Amino acid sequence: MSFTADRLILFGATGDLAQRMLLPSLCALFGDGLLPDGLRIVGTARSDLTDEGYREFARKALETYLPADRRSGVEGFLETLFYQPLDATTLEGYKELSAKTDREGKGLAIFLSTAPSLFEPTIAGLAHAGLTEGDVRIGLEKPLGTDLASSREINDAVAAAFPEDRIYRIDHYLGKETVQNLLALRFANILFEPIWNANYIDHVQITVAETVGLESRVAYYDDSGALRDMVQNHMLQLLALVCMEPPTSFDATAVRDEKVKVLRALRPIEASETVTGQYRAGAINGQAVPGYDEELGKDSDTETFVALKAHVDNWRWKGVPFYLRHGKRLPERVTEIVVQFRCIPFSIFEGRGAKTKPNRLVIGIQPEENIQLALMAKLPGLDREGIRLRRVPLDIAMPDAFSGAQRRIAYERLLLDLLEGDQTLFVRRDEVEAQWEWIDQIRQLWAEAGRSPKTYTAGSWGPSAAIALVERDGVSWHDE
Ligand code: BG6
Repeated sequence: MSFTADRLILFGATGDLAQRMLLPSLCALFGDGLLPDGLRIVGTARSDLTDEGYREFARKALETYLPADRRSGVEGFLETLFYQPLDATTLEGYKELSAKTDREGKGLAIFLSTAPSLFEPTIAGLAHAGLTEGDVRIGLEKPLGTDLASSREINDAVAAAFPEDRIYRIDHYLGKETVQNLLALRFANILFEPIWNANYIDHVQITVAETVGLESRVAYYDDSGALRDMVQNHMLQLLALVCMEPPTSFDATAVRDEKVKVLRALRPIEASETVTGQYRAGAINGQAVPGYDEELGKDSDTETFVALKAHVDNWRWKGVPFYLRHGKRLPERVTEIVVQFRCIPFSIFEGRGAKTKPNRLVIGIQPEENIQLALMAKLPGLDREGIRLRRVPLDIAMPDAFSGAQRRIAYERLLLDLLEGDQTLFVRRDEVEAQWEWIDQIRQLWAEAGRSPKTYTAGSWGPSAAIALVERDGVSWHDE
């Protein structure tokens, strides 16, 4: 049954995600009058804070992370905040949490932004306090396990207390406007769909490049690595959106049915189709930065860069390689999808000396939100020495096209959907498990081969082997 939650319990309420994303997003929504009237948010974590103490904590987070032009609602928002200290691993304290929530007759949303090892005890505690009963749904932040087995364990534990239609697994990339726009581009236009297949597309590149290094997440990251941190979730979701068949409607079941088919069609990869790297000291934007080993304070075999050649084994994508690339400490922060079309079958211009290049669609996800279609055009002139053609971009810069629209944090969309009960932009259990299955196979290959990451200089585009991976196929990465 659908309901709007006007109670929200935030586990991990003093954590990094809460400060940077969750509190700012909730406050921004509040300022825009989009949260339910009378919303009560109860933060919980180990720290021994009072309601007042937590409000002060939240105020600081908002001053730091919420853009100044979106802070109009801060005072009112702080009044919606309450706090209950809790050790999530014991049953004690959950009844107090329930009392603090003042739930009587109200719809409840619970958001777990804690280490996945706490998910199981938290669910037990919630059940103990009756917080899993009635109108309640639960949001789960990544990582959802570290492999298929652990992810199943988490999913089983959550499923013991909540049916799937009450479970909201977050992949914050799905909350990004530009990622949703991918669906509009594909399914609200007639232009692309007829050529969106192996007959017309040569290959696809998906790049998620970051300039940041370890940040403050040393322990988590060194256990995780680039493949599990970014490819398993965000990049596979992008891939699924690029590859999926048209869903019959824009609803949670139809969209996720199509995505999971793609994830299940991912071909097990070969060792020669993967490259891993780890950054060494270098410079980003002219600033010297230390190497991963220096930041970590020890040697490690964790990859901070990964490049893969993936294949989707189905009728539409037969023979089309999908090159995925992600790394920390790369020269720029950019997330983009490049769809490289095939060459024209025959050039009438060749006899006049002109060369043609294939069309290319570049979907910029961040930081630039734009869609660029590279088309061939004739250079102006009288052509006495032959015709000259050049690839020119047809550019749609989203911020210009929609200049009046509010730019939102991805979590604003996801938190609102969680409160209102729309699962379309959340990941279903079968998707997560298909993602892990593919990733586990890659990790197993690496383990069998005793693979260590190659080094690359911070500020470069990763190890040279990543260039060789695509050059073998006559392809260059889009930045080259
Ligand atoms: C997170 C990863 O899921 O996504 C981080 O754990 C990464 O390592 C982040 O930096 C990137 O998110 P965004 O929205 O900045 O691209």
